[in-house]
Amino acid sequence: MQLAKKITEDTYYVGYSDRRLELFENIYPIERGVSYNSYLVLDEKTVLLDTVDHSVSRQFMENVKGVLSGRCLDYLIVNHVEPDHCATIEAVINAYPECKIVGNAKTLQFIAQFYDFDVSSHSMTVKEGDVLSSGKHSFSFVLAPMVHWPEVMVTYDSFTKVLFSADAFGTFGSLSGNLFADELDFEKEWLDDARRYYLNIVGKYGIQVMNLLKKASSLEIGMICPLHGPIWRKDIAWFIDKYKTWAQYEPEEDGIVIIYSSIYGNTEQAMMYLALKLGDLGVRNIHMYDASKTDASVLLSECFRYSKAVFASVTYNLEIFPKMESLLLDLKAHLYQKRRVGVVECGTWALQSGKKMTDILKSMKDIEIVDGKAVSILSNAKESVQKELDNLAENLLK
Ligand code: FEO
Repeated sequence: MQLAKKITEDTYYVGYSDRRLELFENIYPIERGVSYNSYLVLDEKTVLLDTVDHSVSRQFMENVKGVLSGRCLDYLIVNHVEPDHCATIEAVINAYPECKIVGNAKTLQFIAQFYDFDVSSHSMTVKEGDVLSSGKHSFSFVLAPMVHWPEVMVTYDSFTKVLFSADAFGTFGSLSGNLFADELDFEKEWLDDARRYYLNIVGKYGIQVMNLLKKASSLEIGMICPLHGPIWRKDIAWFIDKYKTWAQYEPEEDGIVIIYSSIYGNTEQAMMYLALKLGDLGVRNIHMYDASKTDASVLLSECFRYSKAVFASVTYNLEIFPKMESLLLDLKAHLYQKRRVGVVECGTWALQSGKKMTDILKSMKDIEIVDGKAVSILSNAKESVQKELDNLAENLLK
């Protein structure tokens, strides 16, 4: 049975969702699954845009075959060669041997690295600005290196004003009947996953994302078709604005995220004291997380979301507690910046985590550490330390 859906007069969604996968890229929990989007245009020539992951290849092939209804496939445009989108290329070529694979030089190089079939005999190399006509439709290619891999490009169909945006504008989450973002309560039910997807997967490449947004600003875009998550045909400017905020590493909201690593609850108790103090000072957007309990991808996303953060960790094996160390290094790898942060350390003997945390934070760009050093807690937050936490709360708000 084919489960494709028409999205414009002659463009069809032929992707599918995987609800079984626990970890996207074998690292990011996806409780709501993920969709692998692919699109098929029926014109004088037929054009498929990207394929899907192995896990949904059977349904995808049924969708493609069903929409083609006996026609051959003329072109497969490959915007991104990561295996969640390129895993079914060989199956497509086996089913439609006359099909040309359209990609830039790096695209075709990567496909040849992944596959053993003769890619060159099927390939059509394009470069920035080239146009492929399928009849009514004209597909132009815009290179978008490092959004998320170096070969990435996006494809603009000037007939339908559709931008096939590769990983950009994607989100985690399966599609359940409604393909369009305007059919969903996106802000309430999807934005957190969109932010988590962007910041963890593409977030390191903010400059490259801004370059793509600049190039795209000259296009009249009526619809954005990403490789994951819902399709955009309304409120496109709203979502592009989110991308601009994220890509420039600006906080999305004025607020404070407190993340702690606590073994027996003393560090946690001190952070609760700090949170209550912040509340007394009028802060209304405070979010506390235990780094051992909440997945790192959520923590990273929350750190980028808010304007301020507090990191508190026990000393463990004379180091930062592993979950906190991993988070800080992950933040550094994702170019965490432009934030005011507090640091708190706790331990009974040989406190080390404060200095080590501040060293990592100082190695990041434009991170202001309140008072330049950690507040130290010996075992638990006695009255003298509570005063220091009061100061930390006040200075964090300055
Ligand atoms: Fe969805 Fe970079 O692959």
